[in-house]
Amino acid sequence: MNFPKTRMRRLRYNKILRNMIEDTRIVASDLIYPIFVSEGAGTKEPIESMPGQFRYSIDNTILLCEELLKFNINSIILFGIVKKKDDTGKISCNSKSIVPKAITKLKSKFKDKLFIIADVCNCEYTKHGHCGTIIENDVDNDETVTTLAEQSLILAKCGADALAPSDMMDGRVKVIREILDKNKFEKTPIFPYSVKYSSAFYGPFRDAAKSSPSFGDRKTYQMNFKNSEEAINEVKLDLNEGADVIIIKPAMVYLDIVLKIKERFNVPIIAYNVSGEYSMVKSASKNNFISEMEIVLEILHSIKRSGANAIISYHALDVAKFLKKNNV
Ligand code: PBG
Repeated sequence: MNFPKTRMRRLRYNKILRNMIEDTRIVASDLIYPIFVSEGAGTKEPIESMPGQFRYSIDNTILLCEELLKFNINSIILFGIVKKKDDTGKISCNSKSIVPKAITKLKSKFKDKLFIIADVCNCEYTKHGHCGTIIENDVDNDETVTTLAEQSLILAKCGADALAPSDMMDGRVKVIREILDKNKFEKTPIFPYSVKYSSAFYGPFRDAAKSSPSFGDRKTYQMNFKNSEEAINEVKLDLNEGADVIIIKPAMVYLDIVLKIKERFNVPIIAYNVSGEYSMVKSASKNNFISEMEIVLEILHSIKRSGANAIISYHALDVAKFLKKNNV
């Protein structure tokens, strides 16, 4: 099988043939759109560090979802932006809190046409910005897990289609599964961020959600980016505790991890193309240093190629519009 008998270019000359033998293809239904929901009405507040992204009040979130559905994006993940915060995040464990309220309204409007994933975490609701209850200057694992379980149950009761704990506490999947099952939500799946690295790529998100820790960092609970075997243990534990789909984040510079998890475990994976990855592309393309859509498509295909079944991305709507316009 040597040249000239073998010519790799033979399969590249014809566009139809190139398309026919593609390994991966992005379609709108692979994409999950992250939305920041804020209190109040009639507001759509730009997020400075994430050009093209906004904090939407619930009425505007509904309008946004209508547009997403028009372009075949049928799933979203919600983050809450609140003014009033407390020390533990327990303030979120209430059906009148912003995300439960948004889910109730969205579900009554869109029913099963829209799949709603609720991010489960306390950092958007604590005064100190950490993901849980602080005891002796650190996030206490077991105390935090009880709040997360309570938050999960409220979200499920309001109609969340899946729960995505992003806190990185040990044992939270087990406790959330138990409280869901005890309350007859055995059909509600859990999509934990099993592999969540402590990453500077979350910077713009923290600006958007006003959730930067007021002291210290998240290194005592999020993973060290110098490690890779640890990711396998995290996934193994979460699967044993009842995880249904594994979320991995960030995506772009962690594709080795996506591939590793895909090869080891027979489970669906969602990769999160996070805020910093988005903002890098946006700012470089604003300067015309790169061609935005070409770069975005290359990034999303690389994520899928490495083994992700679906992708959470702030680029999702732009991509879906592009795909529709070009009949892809
Ligand atoms: C909440 C949460 C974060 C992100 C998703 N869920 C922030 C963090 O852990 O600080 C980051 C997502 C992004 O950067 O787009 N815990």
